[in-house]
Amino acid sequence: PNFFALIPAAGSGSRMGDELPKQYLSLAGKPMIYHALRILCSSSRITCVFVVLAPGDEEWLRHDWSDFSGKLEVLECGGATRAESVLNGLKAARGVSSIGDDDWVLVHDAARPCLAEMQLDKLLDELADDEVGGLLAVPVADTLKRGDASRRVEYTESRENLWQAQTPQMFRYKLLVEALSMMGGVTMTDDAGAIEALGLHPKLVLSDARNLKVTYPQDLALAELILRNP
Ligand code: C5P
Repeated sequence: PNFFALIPAAGSGSRMGDELPKQYLSLAGKPMIYHALRILCSSSRITCVFVVLAPGDEEWLRHDWSDFSGKLEVLECGGATRAESVLNGLKAARGVSSIGDDDWVLVHDAARPCLAEMQLDKLLDELADDEVGGLLAVPVADTLKRGDASRRVEYTESRENLWQAQTPQMFRYKLLVEALSMMGGVTMTDDAGAIEALGLHPKLVLSDARNLKVTYPQDLALAELILRNP
């Protein structure tokens, strides 16, 4: 089986409080998504990288993506939710590549620009022979409080065996399409969640907190620092 990557980038990024969707916010002199594309496209182990845009995305056309030519396929088929964008992208990928049922798909967020080659390789190495697939993740570091509606602590959650899910998340093409198709209206915030809903148990591959998700404006400065000091 071959490895393919898919980046859903059809979100509006409303939590950043910005007009520009967050994948295009400037980070170390490039649109944020450039960094995720660079790491995935430069891996010789990955056959092709699909990026899923919102239909009619004009911002994409304002930038130069020629660094990735030959390796990148742009699919303008984003949906209303992340899961829908991934599913639409997977279906469209059939028409523009040789991707097959047993091939691996690495779904990665445009909002994780600091993925390192080492983590990417570790994911591929640890899961290449896996039955189910899995994801990069880190053990939870903070103490977790369960709060009630009036913001009073009900109790402290044990953080034993609790992990923060990252991306890439890696599953076989056919299984992932099947899992996402079954979701219906249920909202899942990651792809592993859809696989879990089938009763399967994705593998947690130990990652690094530097593979952070840019969600709020203050995350941008930290991401830039990490990119400049790999
Ligand atoms: O909003 P959030 O940070 O959860 O988005 C995660 C990723 O999913 C982003 O890369 C975003 O562009 C993508 N997304 C998408 N289609 C949507 C919503 C989000 O491709 N409808």
